[in-house]
Amino acid sequence: MATEDNQQKKLSTEPYKGVRDFYPQDMQIERYIFDTMSRVTESFGYSEYSASILEPTELYQSKTNDEIVNEQTYTFTDRGGREVTLRPEMTPTLARMVAGKRHDLTFPLRWYSIPNVFRYERPQRGRVREHWQLNADLFGVSELDAEVEIISLASSLMKAFGAEDNDFEIRMSDRSILTSIFEELKTSEEVQAKVMRLLDKRAKIDDFDTQLKAILGEQSESFVEKLESTSSSSNLELVLSQLKNLGVTNAVIDTSIVRGFDYYTGVVFEVFDTSSENNRSLFGGGRYDNLLSLFGGDKIPAVGFGMGDVTIRDFLETHDLLPPYNARTELFLCTLTQSAKEYAQKLAQALREQDINVEVALSDKKVGDQIKIANKKGIPFVICIGEDEIKNESFTIKHLESGEEKTLKEDAVADYIFSKI
Ligand code: HAM
Repeated sequence: MATEDNQQKKLSTEPYKGVRDFYPQDMQIERYIFDTMSRVTESFGYSEYSASILEPTELYQSKTNDEIVNEQTYTFTDRGGREVTLRPEMTPTLARMVAGKRHDLTFPLRWYSIPNVFRYERPQRGRVREHWQLNADLFGVSELDAEVEIISLASSLMKAFGAEDNDFEIRMSDRSILTSIFEELKTSEEVQAKVMRLLDKRAKIDDFDTQLKAILGEQSESFVEKLESTSSSSNLELVLSQLKNLGVTNAVIDTSIVRGFDYYTGVVFEVFDTSSENNRSLFGGGRYDNLLSLFGGDKIPAVGFGMGDVTIRDFLETHDLLPPYNARTELFLCTLTQSAKEYAQKLAQALREQDINVEVALSDKKVGDQIKIANKKGIPFVICIGEDEIKNESFTIKHLESGEEKTLKEDAVADYIFSKI
């Protein structure tokens, strides 16, 4: 007898908080975003790499950003007692990989990856707990040419997504402006990290002055004065003029840009959406010349950025740049009998070998209903297989949108479809 207790509780169909399911329509957009990222990045000479999402926790401790490491990582102890973290970003993994093979690799090194990364953040527009992030990084170039290349890659990506110059703005700053102020004020490294974190949040908080005073005490006023009187650096001017020569005209200097990670050492940048509906940072990066020294050996200069899939998708939506959904299946074979099903499977096989994507109806639904299914799925062409088609080995192919029909032999079907799509 079934009781309340042994009746199974229904499982929720919702995904885990802050992560996304990708149903086919979403997956097609995601695939478009990844393909565009790869194509453009490869056109600049970058090679793809990858790694596991699991890293030893110590890779992140006190090296990147205490807030992310202490409050936003997914960390657990494995069955062997090791502390493990799901990567919250790719840069430490990349630094580990490059440092590990430094003697075998050829510099300058240009690498990219599109990893998923995990951060336990409060989910909101543009912020989730798992996102994918293009990472493009250039190692072994200490000159500003590296910044120019990386920022022009960022700009080319935006253009490839269909953005116009006035849809986005590249805001650049230079960490060395802050470093020299800190040197003047003799600020400890620990306090520097706190000030940088606060500056990174400046636009989002109301009590910046109070919080700054709590960190810097009496020095806070002179810190603000020095910062406000420095509007640029010679490095920034040089990068800006070289970018202009390359046709990147929407880069500006904005010393309020800091970026959240401690490892940045020089020019940093962030790309902003200029639309009032989505006025936010889309992605960013900068120079980090000291991170690889954590693994021993000489310094390896590095510049790179991370471009998230969520913010880019929001940008595409805001600017009406999302590609329309296109069914990947080109042909649907309706089947009227069991022997038609078997025949259709063989025909499908032959057409697949000619690069046509074919779906075979396996239900016993009426022809009209089968065609409706094809239509609903957005499949453009239909052939119905019955006894006549099997006997005559010729097929009437119908283009569902126009209603146009043509009767063809098997060897002409693929060419006909290619001529129409
Ligand atoms: P980040 O600014 O923390 O930098 O992340 C890069 C981009 O990833 C962000 O600008 C945003 O597009 C996206 N992103 C970050 N967190 C989230 C989130 N919770 N939800 C959705 N999207 C997010 C880095 O991670 C650096 N490691 C980038 C880098 C590479 N610097 C040098 N090389």
